[in-house]
Amino acid sequence: MDSTGRSAQREAAIGVFDSGVGGLTVLRELIALLPSESTVYLGDTARVPYGTRSREVVTRYALLCARHLAARGIKLLVVACNTVSADSLPAIAEALPIPVLGVIEAGAQAAAARTRGGGIAVLGTPATVASGAYQAVLARIAPLAKVAARACPLFVPLAEEGWIDGEVPRLVAQRYLGDLRRAGVDTVLLGCTHYPLLAATIAEVVGPEMAIVDGAQATARAVAHLLEVRDLRRSGGVAEHRTLCTDVPDRFQKIAERFLGRPVGAVDLVDLTP
Ligand code: DGL
Repeated sequence: MDSTGRSAQREAAIGVFDSGVGGLTVLRELIALLPSESTVYLGDTARVPYGTRSREVVTRYALLCARHLAARGIKLLVVACNTVSADSLPAIAEALPIPVLGVIEAGAQAAAARTRGGGIAVLGTPATVASGAYQAVLARIAPLAKVAARACPLFVPLAEEGWIDGEVPRLVAQRYLGDLRRAGVDTVLLGCTHYPLLAATIAEVVGPEMAIVDGAQATARAVAHLLEVRDLRRSGGVAEHRTLCTDVPDRFQKIAERFLGRPVGAVDLVDLTP
């Protein structure tokens, strides 16, 4: 590529997608670490949740999202959804002519760095847990660590509803995680976009001696590294952030702030029907 093409590519936005609003927890860390980078975020609110669906269906939906963002000229795609990262990353990477990064590797690395040898509990959607993706990466990078995996599907609607503390989420967390203290693990990896919102409640249930790891920051660092290695980093200027969703943009806008940590601005509706 000539230098004009390369500098145009550096100016392009980073694409980020998730099944819904949850991936904004990843976008938040990306914007904090890379303030000069423009982003375009797509939440597939017409089809959320992905975490209770089959691999085939998740991959079909994910490819629609990925192709839509690629057609907008992004320079890099971040798959913020753990379920898609677990089930469909190779299919997306094969379909797109740009670098594609998921959240599993960085999250697993962050948890492996935190455990003090007592083992790791991976919390995720039923699809993420069933895929064995986190378990496989942890077996490679921390072969001696004991790994337990738990599906906590009710955490997703609780986080969306804003029920992140108090009696109801505490009871749900107790039901899912009440016995983790006896499971011989010392680290809990939040392997789902929504779970960071419930981190305080989860910590209360699993006890203060357990480290809680959120892969979002590690994913942002992996994105920064990839931009550097591919010579795609934007050097400065004002970043632009666009937000798209596939259904009910008003609801998306209302709950987005909780995930992003600030107002999301305008949310455009897009139709991914092939
Ligand atoms: N974004 C999904 C994940 O991180 C959670 C929500 C869903 O099930 O679609 O796995």
